[in-house]
Amino acid sequence: MKKIKIGVFGAYRGMTMVRQIMGSSDAELTAVCDKFKPALDKCRKEAEDAGLHNVTYYENFEDFFHHDMDAVVLANYANEHAPFAIRLLDSGRHVMTECLTCATMKEAVELIEAVERSGKVYTYAENYCYTPVRWEMRERFRRGDIGELMYAEGEYVHDCSSIWPSITYGEREHWRNEMYSTFYCTHSIGPILSMTGLRPVKVSGFETQNRPFMRNLGAAAGCAGMEIITLSNGAILKSLHGGLKHTCHSNYQLNGDRGGMKDLGDGQLAVYIEGENENCRGKHETYSPKPVVVGAENSGHGGGDFFTTYYFIRSILGDEVARERAIDVYTAVDMCIPGILAYRSICNGNASVDVPNLRNKSERDAFRTDTFCTTRKIAGDMYVLNNIHNNEPIPDEVYEEVRRRWIAGEPG
Ligand SMILES: NC(=O)c1ccc[n+]([C@@H]2O[C@H](COP(=O)([O-])OP(=O)(O)OC[C@H]3O[C@@H](n4cnc5c(N)ncnc54)[C@H](O)[C@@H]3O)[C@@H](O)[C@H]2O)c1
Repeated sequence: MKKIKIGVFGAYRGMTMVRQIMGSSDAELTAVCDKFKPALDKCRKEAEDAGLHNVTYYENFEDFFHHDMDAVVLANYANEHAPFAIRLLDSGRHVMTECLTCATMKEAVELIEAVERSGKVYTYAENYCYTPVRWEMRERFRRGDIGELMYAEGEYVHDCSSIWPSITYGEREHWRNEMYSTFYCTHSIGPILSMTGLRPVKVSGFETQNRPFMRNLGAAAGCAGMEIITLSNGAILKSLHGGLKHTCHSNYQLNGDRGGMKDLGDGQLAVYIEGENENCRGKHETYSPKPVVVGAENSGHGGGDFFTTYYFIRSILGDEVARERAIDVYTAVDMCIPGILAYRSICNGNASVDVPNLRNKSERDAFRTDTFCTTRKIAGDMYVLNNIHNNEPIPDEVYEEVRRRWIAGEPG
């Protein structure tokens, strides 16, 4: 059988996908693009050391775009995925994008319509949905084990201050410096939507203040963002994410009207289930679920990384199970737009904002020109500052010092 020819755009996080494609029996790595030559050279060395000599390396997206490829993984800047995805879909390529799906509501509509018009596979690499514990929570929830969902929590708390120089390179306009507190909401909201199959209908946003430990590294946004979301069955989801000092990295829990489940964060799942007429007298169990696909053991991010690329490739091959398990464009958008709308809420004194269901064509027109965001070149005249606390610009010397640390290999 002919292998699917896949290109990877972005050779930093993109190396996770590069490695998996190199080891796939269904796909071949055909091209890699990154404008940062050292990253490209590192990728070439790794591929050649593994015996792969027929990969083409590009520094320029235009040249990469014209390469003979069936599918492309987008692991470029988090706020630039949608325009590249749309061009690639329109050229007949299947696309998987890293987090996030879109930077604005306008892009959300445009991306959905590009997927619909192309008929190509689009999947979203929301790896936090796929750890063995969170997948087991999905299976059990969908089986009805804990009844109707009433409340959920998703937390992705990641203090990146020590690695900030190596992930922002001292660039003032790097997306991690320009983003606002509720932008990177996918890892906290995504798994809950994946588990429950529910969609967000209303959101209020909140943010912490910015503190010197991040401002002195070039990031002015509120250090953590929170979305309080009403889900389509009336349940409430609390989503928290960002750079807090914390004892644990993540928390995912579901509370239904017959029981609850909690990801204990160490590979274990705690479950409580009540039977009929058994209020407060149910059974507790704690155990470690196994990955649902052989080969996924020991993959990155708690075992979730393997599944995104695996289901992307299997979906292109027409595998129905993979298509059901992969994250489609509608769910991908649902996992991200609450963050965009939450920042609108924050700018408006935390007032709640309705979250549209963009599956419905009739709900799209209201957002076709909505470029509200904190990146000037994307927002145009809908630009907003990326925090509500301090509008003093960060001095150039801060970025110069972060750049110096990046080059010297020093932590933030
Ligand atoms: N799911 C996860 O667990 C996870 C973890 C880390 C990063 N990510 C995502 O991966 C993506 C990339 O993040 P990153 O950590 O690699 O950092 P990054 O965004 O700084 O790196 C992106 C890479 O793409 C290259 N690039 C960007 N635009 C380009 C262009 N126009 N032409 C050529 N090359 C270009 C850059 O040179 C860089 O090497 C982001 O979307 C991020 O959200 C996801």
